[in-house]
Amino acid sequence: MSNTFPETPTYTGFNAPRRIEGEVFDLEVDGELPARLNGSFYRCGPDPRFAPRLGDDININGDGMVTLFRIKDGHVDFRSRYVRTEKFRLETMARKSLFGAYRNPYTDDPGVAGRDRTTANTNAVFHAGRLFALKEDGLPHELDPDTLETRGRHDYAGKMKSETATAHPKFDPQSGEMLSHGYEARGLASRDVALQVIARDGKLVREDFFIAPYCSMMHDWAVSAGHFIFPLWSTTADEARMRQGGPHWVFEADRDLAIGIMRRDADVKDIRWYRLPPGGVGHILNAFDDGDRVCVDLFISARNQFPFIQNSDGAPFDRERATPRLTRWTFDLSKKNDRFEARTCFSDFMEMPATDPRYQLHAYRHGFTAIVDPSRPLNAAGTIGVGWNTIAHVDLSTGRLERYYAGEKTTCGEPCFIPRSPFAPEGDGYLLSVLIRGDVDSHSELIVLDAQHIADGPMATVRLPFRIRAAVHGSWVPAAQPHPSFRTEPGAAG
Ligand SMILES: [Fe+2]
Repeated sequence: MSNTFPETPTYTGFNAPRRIEGEVFDLEVDGELPARLNGSFYRCGPDPRFAPRLGDDININGDGMVTLFRIKDGHVDFRSRYVRTEKFRLETMARKSLFGAYRNPYTDDPGVAGRDRTTANTNAVFHAGRLFALKEDGLPHELDPDTLETRGRHDYAGKMKSETATAHPKFDPQSGEMLSHGYEARGLASRDVALQVIARDGKLVREDFFIAPYCSMMHDWAVSAGHFIFPLWSTTADEARMRQGGPHWVFEADRDLAIGIMRRDADVKDIRWYRLPPGGVGHILNAFDDGDRVCVDLFISARNQFPFIQNSDGAPFDRERATPRLTRWTFDLSKKNDRFEARTCFSDFMEMPATDPRYQLHAYRHGFTAIVDPSRPLNAAGTIGVGWNTIAHVDLSTGRLERYYAGEKTTCGEPCFIPRSPFAPEGDGYLLSVLIRGDVDSHSELIVLDAQHIADGPMATVRLPFRIRAAVHGSWVPAAQPHPSFRTEPGAAG
């Protein structure tokens, strides 16, 4: 049978599979790229290679495609390449999909039973000289940072015993550590969670397992200078349901959140669990300590955020109650009770956050996000079914929000912040975002904004001669530093 994609939202319009592996030397640039901008911008996202085994699929089940914009001396070269996961290699040999529904192995071709299902399609991060493609249902895949060729699954010389590692590791700008966790660490729908610490030299120095109160989609998590924060939310997994062919995830409307907090130097048996009302938990902007208090800035919603996840009570997807809003949770660890404060910082529909990496884990002021501005034309597109049409700079000290609207029929990628120099003040630098243009002359652009003046529009626009698919997350790796988030001069936050 030929490889023909279905005419469904996952495979048409902005989301049409691109499947382009290749390179373009010296892309067209409008405007002028800053001379200091010298490094690599990696993105990772799903791009289905084969028509779905079950007739249709959800966007986040596509094969991992990594793209690279390498910027030097005002010039930009582009490269894209699939991650050669075991799934990818087996399906390439068969010239068709062998793996079925998202994270449900019971829907696979029996011939691939027990094989690695991960698509490595969520994030591209760089640590200790290695580039990794990540997805939370499997181990990291190491890639060549220049050619993007897959070097293989990376288990830290056999030391990582968890079956999974998050797509959202955190980077300690002072110690150079990469901090990670894996949920469903000991198998499908297991409650086992692994806490993982990778030293700045790339060696796994800690992996401790604990049992979570229930199995939740812990897509992102938070780390402050002194604490790990594990947010379990109301979307849960059940293996019996999967065995019947059902989905991996269902949103349980009456399931309280369980937020686990522990000191970074403590034992995992000392995790303290807080209960919060049911809801959806999105990405973490940052977390920091303030005396005995731990503050977590994140995007939360009253209900399930994703149209492709069913509600256990059969309720239809509710756009308003699914809207993520930037919220600050404050936990006072000196108190014996499990009370907490929640304050909505901005009422806008925003997500896909970035900060100045030198201020991750510490008190900070500046955040950058993608926004859906309903006063502007909306695009039903993007990796999670949302068409971000605006990039925003939020100032958490003043409450000010500055916007850059990207234009009609355009979807913005997650912004990526780059300090102007290692010694620049917090938030002083450049903001990268890839725009997917859906007009007749469909193509993609990498825009470079002045992070403190984004409303002025791009200082440079790098034009790809074709459209690439929306990615999920990515990273900037400067040419001159060992790690993008390494803070050369430790100091108090702004
Ligand atoms: Fe994510």
